[in-house]
Amino acid sequence: MPVKLAKHLFAVLVFLCLGSAGATEEERQFRLRADPELERSGLMRFVLPRFTLKTGRRVELVTDQADMVFAVLPDGTPVVARGPRVFSARLDSDNSAAKRFYDWLLSDVGQATLLDFTPETGPRFAPVTVKGAVEEVVFEGDVALGAAVAGRHCTRCHRVSPEDRSTIGSTPSFMALRALPDWHERFTAFFALNPHPSFLRVEGVSPEFDPGRPPTITPVVVTPEEVDALLAYVSTVTPADLGEEIRHQ
Ligand code: HEC
Repeated sequence: MPVKLAKHLFAVLVFLCLGSAGATEEERQFRLRADPELERSGLMRFVLPRFTLKTGRRVELVTDQADMVFAVLPDGTPVVARGPRVFSARLDSDNSAAKRFYDWLLSDVGQATLLDFTPETGPRFAPVTVKGAVEEVVFEGDVALGAAVAGRHCTRCHRVSPEDRSTIGSTPSFMALRALPDWHERFTAFFALNPHPSFLRVEGVSPEFDPGRPPTITPVVVTPEEVDALLAYVSTVTPADLGEEIRHQ
């Protein structure tokens, strides 16, 4: 029956439109108002690139109207404490990127990230929920891809495996870095640590190269997936036996 068929087609059309509209309306960015102490301590500078790397969602720090508030609040969900102050999160809009951040802060990985952070001054951040030890962070990237990325981009300066014989004097090998207790911190953030920002960018995460100071060596651009893969690869690298002395430096 033509009428029935037309109705059916119409329903399919509406469904497709709603479906695709829903997908494109998924927000990539949101406005966050954070307690000044969270910014001053360096916590936001530490946490936000990691969140953006994981989710591709960007965060704009604002001091007025925001999609989410992360501060000492009477009516939020407690996230983390520092000394006597408890910082809570509250969603003030239905922005889906803000919801992602809210969920991430409360997830095991988000909590582990907050507790890993070492402020330059003052006490560390502490958990507010009493739920056993925070689990060891597990890297989910593709180990084979990570080995390939390391071979292509990192061997220019680092020894990335015991088999790799190319060494550049003082540049630490991946085995030596792997022996440090905070190796995963260093590999999660290496692209923001010198000397890398001068020649290496992570797509959608790092700022553009400074046009006034272009890279003096062939620039490298990696994707967030490749950074995940590198982490997964490095987690399989056998740590060098550096001895207690170096390990605690
Ligand atoms: C052009 C040379 C060069 C390249 C290419 C390079 N690095 Fe490095 N990297 C360095 C140097 C030099 C250091 C030591 C910096 C220091 O000790 O201050 C370093 C340090 C590191 C550290 C320790 C950071 C810290 O401060 O704790 C990590 C992790 C790291 N690199 C990862 C990588 C990865 C992953 C790649 C490949 C995607 C890579 N590097 C590519 C030169 C390079």
